Amino acid sequence: MANEPRGELVIQTIAMPKDTNPHGDIFGGWLTSQMDLGSGILAAKTAQARVVTVAMEGMSFLEPVRVGDTVRCYARVEKIGRTSMTIPVEVWVTRYMTGEERRVTHGVFTLVAVDEFGKPIPVKGNQPRMDTN
Ligand SMILES: CC(C)(COP(=O)(O)OP(=O)(O)OC[C@H]1O[C@@H](n2cnc3c(N)ncnc32)[C@H](O)[C@@H]1OP(=O)(O)O)[C@@H](O)C(=O)NCCC(=O)NCCS
Repeated sequence: MANEPRGELVIQTIAMPKDTNPHGDIFGGWLTSQMDLGSGILAAKTAQARVVTVAMEGMSFLEPVRVGDTVRCYARVEKIGRTSMTIPVEVWVTRYMTGEERRVTHGVFTLVAVDEFGKPIPVKGNQPRMDTN
């Protein structure tokens, strides 16, 4: 397991009581939503176009997220296709009060650049970042 976040910080927020399940932990759906938003930010910047999510794969929820944790999504462009971008996203938390850093979730999002009618268009933005960390 990586000891440091990989990618660009795209979302930072705090897990709130409204996002919990009956056990008091944060819903996986809320976390997935943050990851989707985060990958969308990076994809839109890369393609310089409107983007839609076409797939999310390999979602792993490694540890629970708790109310008060600071939640950070890191995303990187792993691959650019003709119209699609493959974007792995990692979620790290800073535990409330203790400050402990944990990687809690990761998954791979595929987004497609689209025109105003929702039809795929070529990605003509930046090249993928070659993160080494
Ligand atoms: C994304 C969408 C525009 C693609 O339309 P399409 O007619 O399937 O277009 P294409 O077949 O040309 O595929 C476009 C690209 O997506 C990729 N793609 C399509 N389905 C995929 C899948 N399940 N997984 C990974 N990549 C996929 C294709 O490989 C292609 O990539 P490339 O151009 O880089 O080679 C269309 O499927 C769509 O509108 N989906 C709904 C998106 C949405 O609403 N998302 C939010 C969900 S709430």
